[in-house]
Amino acid sequence: PLDAEEELYRPNYHFTPKVGWMNDPNGMFHYNGYYHLYFQHYPDGNKWGPMHWGHAVSTDMVKWKEQPIALYPDDMGYIFSGSAVVDLQNSSGFGKEGQVPIIAMFTYHNMEIEKAEGIDVESQAIAYSLDEGLTWTKYEGNPVIENPGIRDFRDPKVSWDEEHEKWVMVLAAHDKVMFYGSKDLKKWELMSDFGGDMKKDLGTHGGVWECPDLFQMPVAGTNETKWVLYVSVNPGGPNGGSATQYFIGDFDGRKFTIDKGFETVLNKGQKFWIDFGKDNYAGVTFSNIISKNGGKFYMGWMSNWEYANEVPTETWRSAMTVAREVKLIKDAETYRLAFDPVDELDAYKGVKYKKERIAVNGLSALLDSEKVNLSRTAISFSISDVKKDSFTFKLSNKQGDELSFGYNGGDNSFFIDRDTSGKTGFSDRFSNKVSKAKRFSDNGMLSGTILLDKTSIELFFDEGSTVMTEIFFPNAPFETLSIESASEDFVLDFLEVNELNI
Ligand code: FRU
Repeated sequence: PLDAEEELYRPNYHFTPKVGWMNDPNGMFHYNGYYHLYFQHYPDGNKWGPMHWGHAVSTDMVKWKEQPIALYPDDMGYIFSGSAVVDLQNSSGFGKEGQVPIIAMFTYHNMEIEKAEGIDVESQAIAYSLDEGLTWTKYEGNPVIENPGIRDFRDPKVSWDEEHEKWVMVLAAHDKVMFYGSKDLKKWELMSDFGGDMKKDLGTHGGVWECPDLFQMPVAGTNETKWVLYVSVNPGGPNGGSATQYFIGDFDGRKFTIDKGFETVLNKGQKFWIDFGKDNYAGVTFSNIISKNGGKFYMGWMSNWEYANEVPTETWRSAMTVAREVKLIKDAETYRLAFDPVDELDAYKGVKYKKERIAVNGLSALLDSEKVNLSRTAISFSISDVKKDSFTFKLSNKQGDELSFGYNGGDNSFFIDRDTSGKTGFSDRFSNKVSKAKRFSDNGMLSGTILLDKTSIELFFDEGSTVMTEIFFPNAPFETLSIESASEDFVLDFLEVNELNI
């Protein structure tokens, strides 16, 4: 049965650990031609347990090669989420004779204190690597930030503040985030906080705040730059459980101020989520690399705490999303993030199938597994005038499993329905409702990119302004892709399908 599991469920191109449990991506950075991905990992079990940092490297953020474990838990605790930076000027002093040290900052989660029901369970610590991220030495002066009396005090994300020539760190502190500054990555000064008690209505507070990120980005098509603050929250996500919200604003080196226009839209009840599917959590951006558009690169954990420990795999559990480029756009209302799969994916595009002006009559088959392997595929489509027409894509197999996703013209929303997609009974929260995302625009032109793997779908609608990521576990691979619309003259104007040979 384990071989069958490998065959059926080990993703073709999404990163999974060889064995054991995985959750959040940690410490992602780029240096000297390599991308590094660390991750919350329990190598000795297939459920969450004593946390390590696993490690994988890549030259293109697409193909990952797992490495030996980077950080093991110790007397001070489990190694929870955090980040890594390239200390180009050796401000930490860990580098010897011109070496460029990589510094990881993580949270120690102390189980002894937790068992004794102490409040000071979590503190922040650092480790350094003098071989470009392969092996690590924990700093003897740890912790570098003691617990100030906050129960959930974790997930430090460090970045270099060019303008103020210092390191800035944001971490989650139960129901808010806190900003710290440092010159040497060892001594940290508390600068400010954002989002807590006084402002309960600001953003989503359905659960604890976790895994924040803070970075500056150009606003596409303008000379403006803005600061983006990610905050994962669990529970409280748009479709239940875990999800990542964001705020747009400014940062003066000490304090994050939310953009007024953005705040107005937020206060009107609009939610800003990185992803509107159920399975993208705790993602953050890579450090020491930006895209040619000045954007950041991002990956998330493709699961949800509602059922992450129960999904039907034994050898390993969980995969990461594909790496995505983050874009900051401005529409009539406010600033908004959009995401694209990284360009590097294009290099793996094989067998191509292209069709224009497909008239859809009822349920129309588009592709089958003889033409293209639907478990390793990138699909782009567009509809030139969607009007109020609804349409549903359906992936199906002979076993009767069906995954549907598409657009509902009635309320201008996108959806994914995995209720009949295969194995769903392992948790009553896996498919208890259809995931929905309100569309941001009402343009006639509607386009999308669909990334399919054996157990995941990633949807990038309207140039990535609405992203939906979900996992599924069919009883056999999906063999057919069809589209259905109740509208009589519905036309799919463009369809391009590429097998991904990763
Ligand atoms: C988010 C999270 C983090 C924490 C880690 C523990 O999924 O809860 O806040 O550091 O997982 O594994």
